[in-house]
Amino acid sequence: MTIAQRQGFYALVEDELAELQQRLRDVGRGAHPTFAAASTHLFGSPGKLLRPTLVFLAARFGPHSSDRTIVDLAESLELVHTASLVHDDIVDRADVRRNVPTVNAVWNDDVALIVGDYLFAKAYALAAVLPKPEVIAIVAQTVFALCDGELTEVTSPPAIPSEKQYLDRIELKTASLYAACCQGAALLADADPEHVAALGAYGTNVGLSFQITDDVLDLVGSEALGKEVGRDLAEGMPTLPMIYAVEDSEGDELASRILAPDKDPRERRDLIARIRASGGVERAHGRARLFHDQAVAALDRLPERPERDALREVADFILRRER
Ligand code: FPP
Ligand code: MG
Repeated sequence: MTIAQRQGFYALVEDELAELQQRLRDVGRGAHPTFAAASTHLFGSPGKLLRPTLVFLAARFGPHSSDRTIVDLAESLELVHTASLVHDDIVDRADVRRNVPTVNAVWNDDVALIVGDYLFAKAYALAAVLPKPEVIAIVAQTVFALCDGELTEVTSPPAIPSEKQYLDRIELKTASLYAACCQGAALLADADPEHVAALGAYGTNVGLSFQITDDVLDLVGSEALGKEVGRDLAEGMPTLPMIYAVEDSEGDELASRILAPDKDPRERRDLIARIRASGGVERAHGRARLFHDQAVAALDRLPERPERDALREVADFILRRER
C-alpha cells in the first residue's frame, strides 16, 4: 500500500513525497559503506513522513511551491529529524523504533553517534545552499531548539515538572521542527507574511499536540504498533499524563515511584495501570485536543483551498493516531 492510500492528505503532495523518498533512499550512495548501510536501514522503511508532507502543503500557499528548493528543504528537515532520532535512541538506550531495530542496536552506540552526525551534515549541506538566508537560519535555530530540549530532558533533576516546564521542553524538542517545516516552506515559496505567520502558529500547535499524543501512546499504546510501551516510565522520564496523575494523587508516593530509574517490568505494569486509572491519560489527551483546536484555528487565517483542508486532516490524524 502506498502512503497516498493510507491517508487522504498525502494525495495532494504525492509526487513531491515520491521524489523525497527516492532522494532519502539515495542519501548513503557513494558514502562510507557503514553510513550507506545504516541509511538503507533507516530509509528502507519510511515513517509517516508528516514533516515533509507539511513542508509541501505549506509551500502551496506561496507562488513558488514547485521550486526544487522546496524538496531540498523537506529533505534537509527530514534528515535533521532522522539524525535527532538516531542520537535520541542512543540517549534512551532504545532497541526498536517503528518496528525496526535502531542503529545503536544493529551496530553500536559509536556507529550511531557518527551516523547521526553524518545525517546532520547532509541536512546542513542542503540547507546551506537554500536561496533565502532567513530559511537557512530557521534550520539552524531548529537544531539549537532540538538540542536545548534534549539537554533539558537529560539534565533535569529527578522531579515531577510543572505543566509549563513540560510544555516548554516539548516545544523545543518537537514543536520547533513542525513550526520550521510550515514556516520555512511558506517563506521559501514567497507566501504572504501573514500566511507565513499563520502556518508557523499551526506548526507549533500541531507539534505540541503530536508530542503529547506520543507521550500518551507511550502509556496506552501497544507493542504491536512499533515501540516499547512504558519506555518513558521505565527511564523515570515524567510526561504530561504522569504529571496530571501525580497532581490528582495524595502524598509523594506516586511521584517517587514514577521517578525511580530502572523499574522492573512488574512495577512498570502496576504504575501504568495506576496512571491509567487516575484520569491523567484523558486529561493529557484533552490538552492535546486544545492544541489541535488552536492549530485548526490558525488555518482560518489562510485562504480557502484543498491544501488548507489537508492541513486540517493532518491535525486530526495527529490527534487520533495510534502509533
Ligand atoms: C524524541 O523524543 C527526540 C527528539 C524529538 C529530539 C532529540 C534531539 C537530539 C538528540 C538533539 C540532537 C539533534 C541533532 C540534529 C543531531 P522522545 O524520546 O520523547 O520520543 P521517542 O519516543 O520517539 O523516542
Ligand atoms: Mg526517545
